[in-house]
Amino acid sequence: MSSGSDTSALVSAEFSPRLGGMAQPHAPGFFVVFEGGEGSGKSTQVRALAARLQAQGVDVVTTREPGGTPIAEQIRDLVLADNNADMGPRCEALLFAAARAEHVDKTIRPALQRGAVVISDRFSESSVAYQGAGRGLGMTDVAGLSAWAIQDVAPDLTFLLDAEPEVGLARALDPNRLEAEQLEFHQTLRVALHELAEADPAAHVVIAGGAAQEEIAEQVWVEVQRRLVSANQVPVPTP
Ligand SMILES: Nc1ncnc2c1ncn2[C@@H]1O[C@H](COP(=O)(O)OP(=O)(O)OP(=O)(O)O)[C@@H](O)[C@H]1O
Ligand SMILES: [Mg+2]
Repeated sequence: MSSGSDTSALVSAEFSPRLGGMAQPHAPGFFVVFEGGEGSGKSTQVRALAARLQAQGVDVVTTREPGGTPIAEQIRDLVLADNNADMGPRCEALLFAAARAEHVDKTIRPALQRGAVVISDRFSESSVAYQGAGRGLGMTDVAGLSAWAIQDVAPDLTFLLDAEPEVGLARALDPNRLEAEQLEFHQTLRVALHELAEADPAAHVVIAGGAAQEEIAEQVWVEVQRRLVSANQVPVPTP
């Protein structure tokens, strides 16, 4: 299955400061993102990682997309509402980008600037996969739109929780408008998220989302500790 786009075009400084290898302008904080399909365990792992960091005395901000500010949460309600099922794909893409601009400006960048670890439940790669590959707008175009919305912030580390769509959808108790899409759509998203992770392996960790949640949490914790210590941005003592 193909996502219908040339992923190599995403590895460009124009579209992604992180993929282009530019320095992170937001130091001294650290920005972690969880991506993955519906029910892959993103929210569970955001909570688990935040709790472990907080137990170490680390300043942690947990947030989500779409959302993370009052205005972005209103946009979330709009894009996920069942009665907006006929929303056009470009409208949907622009609303996600608008929410992200607000999210970065009001929540993520200020937290990173004060030195916090920011953990976001989804970020721009969800848009590139959903609107770019899933809705057929093109991954490169949606990545460019998202980069414009984000400006100078990029995740330091993205965990892709990779679960079979059937497994994740079976876990999702209350499917919203986007979750209710056909299985093939979710398989397209899975392929696209993989392509994005493979395009920048240094900043991604792919974890099998079908594993037990404690096991995944442990893998995440080992990786985050290692990265924080080597980045020398936030000291995390080994327990
Ligand atoms: N590794 C796991 N194994 C089995 N069940 C899990 C695992 N991780 C999470 N769950 C359960 O699956 C359900 C979905 O998990 P969660 O809400 O964390 O997923 P999500 O990726 O945030 O989903 P959504 O995309 O719908 O927001 C929850 O009931 C959660 O307790
Ligand atoms: Mg969730």
